[in-house]
Amino acid sequence: MLNIAVLVSGGGSNLQALIDAVEAGSINGRIVTVVSNKEGVYALERAKKHNIPCKVIPKKGNDSFEEQLTLHLMENDVDLIVLAGFLCILSENFVKTFENKIINVHPSLIPSFCGEGCYGLKVHKAALDYGVKVTGATVHYVNNIVDGGKIIAQKAVDVLEGDTPETLQKRVMEEAEWVILPKVVADICNKRRKEEKDG
Ligand code: GAR
Repeated sequence: MLNIAVLVSGGGSNLQALIDAVEAGSINGRIVTVVSNKEGVYALERAKKHNIPCKVIPKKGNDSFEEQLTLHLMENDVDLIVLAGFLCILSENFVKTFENKIINVHPSLIPSFCGEGCYGLKVHKAALDYGVKVTGATVHYVNNIVDGGKIIAQKAVDVLEGDTPETLQKRVMEEAEWVILPKVVADICNKRRKEEKDG
């Protein structure tokens, strides 16, 4: 079984989708730790409710944030790191340490509405301001370019007349993010299991 770490910064609805998929048996792995860079976020409550160990590593004013995070992930023997609404940018050095082991969910069809400073509701506001008729979500590997790693899965969602950033965010989550993120994690776990079996 793969050891999965989920990194969060907020409400944790994508974390919840992963927890539900693990509990339903559709992901062949276990969430060994949930790490937040902020105290008091609801994602931590979600983890606690399901008896998943969690840890807060504050980022603000913390020069050794990445060292602490690296140590924690290594201590937990983590095979896969899922950025699920984790709003910190990770350094090239960190990404190299966990090469091909970090994935991220982003609430647009990359390469639209992405990159540094484009996260959360801002993404949906930018999509509405531009006037696109279709948006969606992307799951991709993380490399040293923000939102620039290899795309693993995407799902399109229609923009509807009268949408606000909030209504669009909700629909993109429900129709795309909570669908493709657990599926990608399940696929990675199955692929890794098969590789181990085949030697
Ligand atoms: C999600 O929409 C996620 O795609 C987005 O933040 C939200 C977190 O919600 N992430 C980014 O914008 C990263 N660039 P959640 O905490 O409820 O999962």
